[in-house]
Amino acid sequence: MFYQLMRSLMFKLDAEKAHYLGLKSLNILEMTGLLSLLYPKAKASSVTVMGLKFPNAVGLAAGLDKNGDYIEALAGIGFGFIEIGTVTPRPQEGNPKPRLFRLPEAQAIINRMGFNNLGVEHLIEQVKIAQTDTIIGINIGKNFDTPVEQAVEDYLIGLRKVYPHADYVTINISSPNTPGLRTLQFGESLNELLAALKAEQVKLQQQYQRYVPMAVKVAPDLTAEEVVELARSFTRFEIDAVITTNTTMSREGVEDLQYGDEAGGLSGRPVFEKSTEIVRQFRKELPEYLPIIAAGGIMSGADAMKKLDAGASLVQIYSGLIYQGPKLVSEIVQTIEKRT
Ligand SMILES: Cc1cc2nc3c(=O)[nH]c(=O)nc-3n(C[C@H](O)[C@H](O)[C@H](O)COP(=O)(O)O)c2cc1C
Repeated sequence: MFYQLMRSLMFKLDAEKAHYLGLKSLNILEMTGLLSLLYPKAKASSVTVMGLKFPNAVGLAAGLDKNGDYIEALAGIGFGFIEIGTVTPRPQEGNPKPRLFRLPEAQAIINRMGFNNLGVEHLIEQVKIAQTDTIIGINIGKNFDTPVEQAVEDYLIGLRKVYPHADYVTINISSPNTPGLRTLQFGESLNELLAALKAEQVKLQQQYQRYVPMAVKVAPDLTAEEVVELARSFTRFEIDAVITTNTTMSREGVEDLQYGDEAGGLSGRPVFEKSTEIVRQFRKELPEYLPIIAAGGIMSGADAMKKLDAGASLVQIYSGLIYQGPKLVSEIVQTIEKRT
């Protein structure tokens, strides 16, 4: 009810302005103690994935809290884990506005934000001061102006900086809004990147006497052969989890809608089937011990169950939160709980 009202007001605003207003409102509700009254946390059984104990299987997908500014408020609505970022080594503004578009008829979003963020140092400071025991994943990427041939260096800088502050780290090689980024999903570029990151993870484990798992996030726009290749590399380089998926370049289901032809990545309901199929394909190709975290079009508890049935161990939401509001978190937690 509360979110319905907020939503009808926020959907009248420019999408990016509404996004920050929503996060700021959550912060105020959290600080005044109202958040837990409006959105009581659902009881859940914990799940152990990547060696970490998650209080529940529902996480926030990367991109909503790029700078780690809203960790406590987001934890307050009951997420079992929160993925902050994508963060880059240096701050950057991202693409010119407008760069975020709502397509409500399809419960979809198109974005070409372009990793707007305040840089890794700011994000680390936010993690340090956040008072929460929620699991925190930190999603890292490369700066826009770092040539893709030198991308490895940006990921290494990110990994070194965030390692002591993260519960897990996500390597984002699948956002469509940084030119060349998705080419890192293929061939020698992928293997060079994973080899360098794995070697660094081993060093950091010794340095900090703590193993921080590393997940890789992939696009939904992959052929069956590409999934086979990726699964082989993830197994070879002992990656700890695969996050399926980022936004799609496809416009299927939104071709005729307002903003349907805007450039960027499409998320929300239209990506659900495609993304679930990628979960299924990876589950077939990956060894059983290598977990999948599924994001893409989850709008209900039943959608989340379909991701788990396809082979995922955890789920993440972003667009669903915008369309359904914070109650979606407890709805999914309760649906999963009923089935366990
Ligand atoms: C506005 C917006 C910004 C996003 N930014 C990022 C990002 O910075 N890094 C990332 O890995 N994914 C990002 N994503 C992708 C989401 O994390 C998620 O993988 C994708 O939207 C599919 O899930 P959904 O359908 O529940 O939104 C973004 C998505 C949206 C809608």
